[in-house]
Amino acid sequence: MKDELFKEPLSRATDFTFNRDVAAVFDDMVHRSIPFYGEVQNMIVDLVAHYYQDETLVYDLGCSTGVLIAKLAAALPGLKGIVGLDNSEPMIEKTRERLAGLPSKVPIDLVCEDLRDFEPKRASAVIMNYTLQFVRPLYREHVMRHIFEGLVPGGILILSEKVLEDSTDISRLFVDMYYQFKRRQGYSDMEISQKREQLENVLVPYKVSEQRELLQRCGFREVEIFFKWNNFASFVAIRSL
Ligand SMILES: C[S@@+](CC[C@H](N)C(=O)[O-])C[C@H]1O[C@@H](n2cnc3c(N)ncnc32)[C@H](O)[C@@H]1O
Repeated sequence: MKDELFKEPLSRATDFTFNRDVAAVFDDMVHRSIPFYGEVQNMIVDLVAHYYQDETLVYDLGCSTGVLIAKLAAALPGLKGIVGLDNSEPMIEKTRERLAGLPSKVPIDLVCEDLRDFEPKRASAVIMNYTLQFVRPLYREHVMRHIFEGLVPGGILILSEKVLEDSTDISRLFVDMYYQFKRRQGYSDMEISQKREQLENVLVPYKVSEQRELLQRCGFREVEIFFKWNNFASFVAIRSL
């Protein structure tokens, strides 16, 4: 279904939430709002294939409608299991619907829970795409520490986020270029600005340097960026052997 949630003027100011209306249009919204969304997922499948260890689990924290889970299960039939977590019931329902039609034999466990209360276990890959940015900064270190502890040695965290740069001018330019991208995807200036206002208090991006420092503080000694497009970055962080 096409994302037209911000097409008409909104009568009152509210914060963005992952409610039923958003879940209904999420697949269209995310493809038109995150540059190279599908290709980043393909790269993640390749990274998981490389780092996966027998008898371990793969986690997708903030799995939304389950697109990546479906790709992982199709591409890597030998996985012992995938755990998808999201605290939005409508998103989990969408994931359930998507997975119901798939022939994959990989066991998939879906959990509707706040990731701040969640501790992955025996993971060789934890994926968190565009989700940490919605967790209040106060809780981010706590979440990252739990993920580090839940990874087996040699396991990876894959983290994709909207980011800022150290330079304020470049950050501003990247955001402008991002709005150009959204216009090219067919969003009007009103849609762009109404969504930006709703996200203002709920999506808090870190600088690339802050993100790297957070990961290193939580125990990840190796942290690399495997994809970057203006104000979007994907990191791979390794729990050393
Ligand atoms: C921008 S979406 C990205 C989803 C997905 N990873 C993707 O790449 O398409 C963020 C998702 O994280 C979920 N989310 C946000 N905060 C969360 C939290 N504290 N605990 C669990 N899920 C959360 C939202 O419900 C939403 O489905």
